[in-house]
Amino acid sequence: MTHGSQRQLKLGAILAGVGTDHASWRDPALPGDASIDINWYIENARLAEAAKFDLVFIVDSPFITPDTAPHFLNRLEPLTLLSALAVSTSKIGLVGTLTTSYWEPYNVARQFGSLDHISKGRAGWNVVTTGLEGASKNYGRDDHFEHGKRYERAGEFVDVVQGLWDSYEDDAFPRDKAAGTFLDKSKQHALNHRGKHFSVAGPLALTRSPQGQPVIFQAGVSGAGRDLGARIAEGVFAGVDTFEDAQEYYADLKARAVSQGRDPDHISVLPGLFPTIAETDEEAQALDKAQRGEVGIDKLLVQLGRAFGYHDFKQYPLDGPFPDVSNLSLNAYKGHTERIIRVSRELNLSLRQAAERFGAWRSGFVGSPQTIADEIQRWFDGRAADGFILHVTRPGDFALFREKVVPILQARGLFRAEYEHDTLRGHLGLPIPENRWNVAPEKVAAE
Ligand SMILES: Cc1cc2nc3c(=O)[nH]c(=O)nc-3n(C[C@H](O)[C@H](O)[C@H](O)COP(=O)(O)O)c2cc1C
Repeated sequence: MTHGSQRQLKLGAILAGVGTDHASWRDPALPGDASIDINWYIENARLAEAAKFDLVFIVDSPFITPDTAPHFLNRLEPLTLLSALAVSTSKIGLVGTLTTSYWEPYNVARQFGSLDHISKGRAGWNVVTTGLEGASKNYGRDDHFEHGKRYERAGEFVDVVQGLWDSYEDDAFPRDKAAGTFLDKSKQHALNHRGKHFSVAGPLALTRSPQGQPVIFQAGVSGAGRDLGARIAEGVFAGVDTFEDAQEYYADLKARAVSQGRDPDHISVLPGLFPTIAETDEEAQALDKAQRGEVGIDKLLVQLGRAFGYHDFKQYPLDGPFPDVSNLSLNAYKGHTERIIRVSRELNLSLRQAAERFGAWRSGFVGSPQTIADEIQRWFDGRAADGFILHVTRPGDFALFREKVVPILQARGLFRAEYEHDTLRGHLGLPIPENRWNVAPEKVAAE
């Protein structure tokens, strides 16, 4: 289902507390404990909802070092956090990241299924396999799963979770007090899954929600990552660099989805957006320069190294050529590191230039609200994105985006002025998935 014939821009808000970069935390208006203060999240989720955003997005990864960026060092866990947001908001979607490498499908099915009920049909799960090799030591393993294995496991993991979510047909509970019938036993289904990575009998002790099942998001840019996304994802958190890079990813992902028999409109491609906004273009350019200057090269090298398993780039000459680290790119953020290596070679970048480009974690969107809106539209019209997920940290930046950029997008008819639905599936124009045990078409609910 789409909202009429016109394609609608989607907007998400990554509530990133004191920032996934190394500069935002120093903003005087940002509380130093934002990443662990539930009131900060509630306030910003409500602001995003008032601006009619589709969803809030909580990133998560199970490994840190002393040099990790401020938000990652000290933050709340996604599911408990999102449960609090579920009862503090009423429309906005609630998407959380959970890794398939260090979890069990039965737990994940319960957690996101519960969030979907608590929020009355607004939950989404961002499926990641985790690029940080150090995570293995937090979960009793000597080594991180190998990249290909991670994706193989992730595919089976999601299949099991979705199977568990269908444990009950929609009319399984007559709750007939007079007759004494709580459950119609014929409508409860065990999964009895026995696969390569998981054995899960089921059933799950939870019915489906108003949106049938939580929405599946995914993040991963390698070939294996794209194949998984094309098969399972209804939204992707796209790790893209330039407009051309995003166009390539967009076309490729949708083509892969079509070859799997899927409707390409049922996967929203959503790059991260980390803009620098000011009243005028000149002010924004100056601000961008100043904010980049606040982050010394050492921090940029750490951010660059994170994708390579926290490789220490300080050991190489800064103004020498980007070092040969291709042997390090295989099992971490593989797709991302391969791009860094390729672009650095193609453009003949020095290590310093590569760190400035890939370590800053900012998107190239710099300018007045008008310029940012134009750039968003260029990516949307140019099929480089179906929408964006905005990093929310500095209060002033978020206010400018909500109060100045969003109204321009609304005036152009690109973005909603009012919510038309109550569920995340509704916002994203996604159909309610059919319960696999209940194949009669008239029983598949339509919003
Ligand atoms: C844009 C983007 C966001 C990601 N976010 C997370 C995250 O929040 N937590 C996590 O553990 N892994 C995250 N990952 C890591 C992926 O799940 C994956 O393990 C890693 O990138 C390697 O896959 P790839 O080579 O397909 O990109 C992210 C990857 C990308 C590209």
